[in-house]
Amino acid sequence: MHSTVFLNGEWLAAAAAKVSVYDRGFLFADGIYEVVPVYQRRPFLMADHLARMERSLAALNITAPGADYWQAVITELLARNQLDDALVYIQITRGAEANRSHIPTSAMSATLFASLSPLNVHWHQPAPLAVTLLDDIRWLRCDIKSISLLGNIMLKQQAHNSGFAEPLLQRDGYITEGASCNFFAVRDGVVYTAPKSHLILPGITRDHTLELARELGLEVREEAFAVADLAQLDELFLTSSSREVQPIDRIDAMIIGNGECGPVTAQLVAAYHASKRKLCEIS
Ligand code: PDD
Repeated sequence: MHSTVFLNGEWLAAAAAKVSVYDRGFLFADGIYEVVPVYQRRPFLMADHLARMERSLAALNITAPGADYWQAVITELLARNQLDDALVYIQITRGAEANRSHIPTSAMSATLFASLSPLNVHWHQPAPLAVTLLDDIRWLRCDIKSISLLGNIMLKQQAHNSGFAEPLLQRDGYITEGASCNFFAVRDGVVYTAPKSHLILPGITRDHTLELARELGLEVREEAFAVADLAQLDELFLTSSSREVQPIDRIDAMIIGNGECGPVTAQLVAAYHASKRKLCEIS
């Protein structure tokens, strides 16, 4: 499908958008990205996504336009393309310079790119998926939404090659997150998720789900969840902009609960759909 993308202030057909071979994103993965879900042409939780993008840029000392600029880009990107439900991908690198050096040797203009990908939105409870427990081999600044995703890709591939939808990552005996989503456990009616730290990406869907859980009167604990306690959990689900609230019914050979989407997860799936519906004003 023909799509129009944004590159460094220009609107181009995707096939015509080109980046320098000296771009530090290409040479060093020196950049960040952000993903904003769009339902019926309305961006969801955009301010939170753009605030996180600014935090990623600040952590890497990359100078680039901030939230207001990107809000305008997203509006125009949606106007120039035909997709109703989509994921906006913003990619920002430190820029390009011909002198290949780990430490930048000149002032550079950041490379700015935005495009849309189709999003398959579901309005019903998704079927549960299975995950596999793997060691979290990623770096120690997972809080930055870096374009350097090799650890995530290797783990995701390993999970996929053995027939699992997602790896469930463990570090030092505790669950961190998935390769592209956050992790939630439910035990005795209490909702657990890993605390924000340099070991996880602070997911916007995670925060929104915590807010929904609190509104529903559920007890939530942002506490590290031990691998040793997985056998006792009643429910497990993952969250991300693309997966939304995704029930999990199996970790490797271990069935969780009764092998169906649990009641707390179902409540949160419904609450998440209600948030989307509110955004779209669909009754
Ligand atoms: N992934 N953890 C990791 C490692 C992620 O890559 C993501 C998002 C999340 C969830 O974040 P959010 O709720 O803000 O989407 C957690 C996006 C969707 C991606 O890489 O496409």
